[in-house]
Amino acid sequence: MAIGIYISKVLAIATVVMTVSSIGGIITMMIVYETERIKMNPTPPPTPNATILYPTGPPPNLRLPGNLIPERYELVLQPRLYTFVNNATNQSLIFTGNSTVYFRCVEKTKTIFLHSKQNVTDVTVKDLDNKKTINVKNTILYNNESNFLEIRLEGVLEEDGNYSLFTAFEGELLDDLAGFYMSSYKKEPSTKDDTTFIATSQMQPTDARKVFPCFDEPAMKAEFKVTIIHRFGTHALANEKATGTTLVDIDGENWEVTRFQTTKKMSTYLLAFTVSDFHSIVSKHERVEIKTYARPEAIKAGHAKYAADITGNILAFYESKEVFGMIYPLSKLDQIALPDFSAGAMENWGLVTYRETALLYEEGVSSTSNKEWIATVIAHELAHQWFGNLVTMKWWNDLWLNEGFATYISYMGVDHIEPKWNIKDLIVLNDIQTVFQVDSLASSHPLSSNEDDVQTPSDITELFDSITYSKGAAVLRMLSDYLKDRVFMDGVKKYLQAFQYSNVVHKDLWEYLQKVKDDTVVLPVAEVMATWTMQMGYPVITINTTTGDVSQEHFLLIQPSDYNYTWHVPIKVMKEGLAPTALPTQVLRKSAFKSEDGKWVLANINCMGYFRVNYDPANWDRLLSQLETNIHEIPLINRGQLIDDAFNLARAKHINVTLALRTTKYLRNDTEYIPWESALRNLDYFILMFDRSEVYGPMQAYMRKQVGGLYQHFENFTTVPEDPSEQYNQINAISVACSNDIEDCQKMAKKLFDNWMTNNTSNPIQPNLKATIYCQAIAAGGEKEWEFAWGKFQNTTTASEKDKLRFALSCTRKIWLLNRYLEYTLNPDKIRKMDAISTINYIARNVAGQAIAWNFVRAHWNYISLEYGGGIMSFGRLIEGVTQRFSTDFELQELRQFQSDYNEEELGSASRALEQAIERTQANIKWVKENKQTVLEWFRKESSESS
Ligand SMILES: *[C@@H]1O[C@H](CO)[C@@H](O)[C@H](O)[C@H]1NC(C)=O
Ligand SMILES: *[C@@H]1O[C@H](CO)[C@@H](O)[C@H](O)[C@H]1NC(C)=O
Ligand SMILES: *[C@@H]1O[C@H](CO)[C@@H](O)[C@H](O)[C@H]1NC(C)=O
Ligand SMILES: *[C@@H]1O[C@H](CO)[C@@H](O)[C@H](O)[C@H]1NC(C)=O
Ligand SMILES: *[C@@H]1O[C@H](CO)[C@@H](O)[C@H](O)[C@H]1NC(C)=O
Ligand SMILES: [Zn+2]
Repeated sequence: MAIGIYISKVLAIATVVMTVSSIGGIITMMIVYETERIKMNPTPPPTPNATILYPTGPPPNLRLPGNLIPERYELVLQPRLYTFVNNATNQSLIFTGNSTVYFRCVEKTKTIFLHSKQNVTDVTVKDLDNKKTINVKNTILYNNESNFLEIRLEGVLEEDGNYSLFTAFEGELLDDLAGFYMSSYKKEPSTKDDTTFIATSQMQPTDARKVFPCFDEPAMKAEFKVTIIHRFGTHALANEKATGTTLVDIDGENWEVTRFQTTKKMSTYLLAFTVSDFHSIVSKHERVEIKTYARPEAIKAGHAKYAADITGNILAFYESKEVFGMIYPLSKLDQIALPDFSAGAMENWGLVTYRETALLYEEGVSSTSNKEWIATVIAHELAHQWFGNLVTMKWWNDLWLNEGFATYISYMGVDHIEPKWNIKDLIVLNDIQTVFQVDSLASSHPLSSNEDDVQTPSDITELFDSITYSKGAAVLRMLSDYLKDRVFMDGVKKYLQAFQYSNVVHKDLWEYLQKVKDDTVVLPVAEVMATWTMQMGYPVITINTTTGDVSQEHFLLIQPSDYNYTWHVPIKVMKEGLAPTALPTQVLRKSAFKSEDGKWVLANINCMGYFRVNYDPANWDRLLSQLETNIHEIPLINRGQLIDDAFNLARAKHINVTLALRTTKYLRNDTEYIPWESALRNLDYFILMFDRSEVYGPMQAYMRKQVGGLYQHFENFTTVPEDPSEQYNQINAISVACSNDIEDCQKMAKKLFDNWMTNNTSNPIQPNLKATIYCQAIAAGGEKEWEFAWGKFQNTTTASEKDKLRFALSCTRKIWLLNRYLEYTLNPDKIRKMDAISTINYIARNVAGQAIAWNFVRAHWNYISLEYGGGIMSFGRLIEGVTQRFSTDFELQELRQFQSDYNEEELGSASRALEQAIERTQANIKWVKENKQTVLEWFRKESSESS
């Protein structure tokens, strides 16, 4: 049980328990409040009981009893589908297979429980110690979320006995993106008859059981010896290297049998198999054979080259002392770009699978952000090869450790290969600001869940959210900074060494970090981290710079908090024009937060801490005047964070909305990406709330005024700025200028698009600006522009180009075109299933498409939930997407009606999202009521003022 520290909301005494002076007048310290110590809520998970024997009936929860320990599987799979078919009715969308699992019994039993989603056609149980078969009484496939297959035996499995279980089975190869499934693509997109089929897999979290009966829990690690029987002329991949291929004749057809080396001890969710006609290119690495696979056309055109170039480099970097200091333990690493894939990528050990957009880069066609995404995803998946694959969480409740870690480490990986990108700064935009939003709602949840609260496949699926990924990364970054990066990585290395090929709970990591920490760190790591992992949300630190008083409270956006949460807060502070000050440890230093001679105080330098900061009004004024006079006195990341904090503090009524708006005024003099992007994301809420009202005109006038300088700065749109963050801000300049009706911008977009339509073959638009220019041109244009883009969409094979066009097609103002586009999302030949939901969301994002998208979702709910139910969190995203503008009583009523039209089961995983949408709509209605007039007046005043 973890013990935290309680603090009343009133200010307590700040004690400095740690001081480190670092760059330019920044002081780090830990805010601790010394008051009564009480137990924290919620309590940590109890240690589970994994070795209970269930002589009769199923286990009381959805976990395997743990009395049987799998050691090795021999798995044979034979996907029957044809790669090329001329006659679709000949296609065979099934696979057959068999598996033998060798296991040890640690507690006497007469039943075998394991996971399966399909009936077995044959079962044999053998006693390996005396070579006898044990007769099977019957098998029961549970028709519920347990996915249990119960095998009742005539005889008994004895403690310490060794047994084998043989099963034969048959399954379907559907386009459902889960388990063993089929994907397809066309060699020539314009023709109908050259579809090429692929068999591929996605097991995480609980779909290995959809392929074969297995002990499908992450702690049930075993070795796997895999054989794949595939059609002659295709190529099979699995986690390990192939040891050989033989040709066989089965029922008069030609097949190849590919056998693979036995894997290391690993979890079932990391298994992967593909059968395709793909080609590959090789990466450089001194020991590991690395290959990147994709459609033959994409390999030939060099689209996998960038991925191949960086993969060997990132892998070697992770192996080096600087990161994990441990070699990648397999002899090969394959990665493959799949035309249909539900997530971004999957870290299967030795066979990493990707969406095409996460692996394929086309020079001159893909944008810099496409490239950044590819590097980021590869760096993320490679980090998992250690953190997740080698050392795995015991149960899914600790998923955040895997995902948070891979997310955090990916910034190191990308920084290593592309140091010019300053990617480490972007964690603030990509992860921290994003998850701050989610984590400031009352419906948020702690990073750590109780093991017992995570049982069903949908409980597990729900954990794949931004809290797990982004908050996980943010608190690890904070911890690393607090312990010092070198010390942190030292502890991580020792932890990986200690737990390789086995499983952990997150406290194991705290224990290893505790062992390596230096003397400047006074509080136990586990105690500090408990406040960030066992409580949901995060604090706002309020600093009164007149007195130096500091306090913390749980920050919630919409309502006050009911929880008496407090956190151990490592905080860095900086003062105007001051040299570094060394503070003695263990001394009360309010003075660190006190303003002297009317100079400003700035806290949470570089947003290293996972919290927001509020100041007394006078200090806010000082900071804003500093921004007006010399922006460089305030670190870049903090310029963005001041804006993000101010807008959110205003939403939560800690400060006035006008103060938040004032933080955007200085942007006329700042051309940097981070502050602009922070402002635009926050102003986006104003657009959603007001783009159907009279506030929008004055708001657009203000935006035109603000963006003028930026637009001129980037006026030469055909050249690509050298610095990647300048490239991103060039996109912002155009998108803000065009969407707020700066005429030059709109003319420019139209002209470029017209040139493309006339020229047809050569696209004159530079890759970074394509999505924006396409969108602006289609918004300003009519059917002709839309049809042209739709044609291009259908004919391009470059996935990133397809994505840009798919987005841009949603920008038209013509309702009838938007309607047509919505209908296309139900037809997988037009819009792939994996893209349907984001396409509907793009349309809803367009003010002209808002109402029809909502109507469409309601009208087709039954179909959508049946056909598109598979993907991770997709319903949640759909409901969130189509309702994000909702801010009227009528819309609230419609939401409630929709909720009452279906029962819980019909709504499925959308029911939580619907609950949240109602909560959000209520908050929006209230916010608009309270702020509309003030905001209107402010925009009017600021846009008319001449300056
Ligand atoms: C855990 O197992 C032990 C030993 O079998 C048993 O005494 C105890 O009651 C079990 N605890 C729970 C919570 O089931
Ligand atoms: C396609 O195959 C099916 C089954 O073999 C056959 O009945 C049908 O006639 C074939 N159609 C064509 C157009 O060849
Ligand atoms: C498993 O399937 C393969 C391929 O069909 C077959 O050759 C093999 O004999 C099967 N194994 C057993 C034990 O039946
Ligand atoms: C498994 O077999 C039982 C009995 O034949 C049948 O009722 C059930 O629908 C089957 N389940 C699946 C998933 O095929
Ligand atoms: C800061 O502290 C002073 C002195 O206690 C008090 O007068 C002032 O109201 C405080 N300011 C804020 C914003 O709380
Ligand atoms: Zn991951």
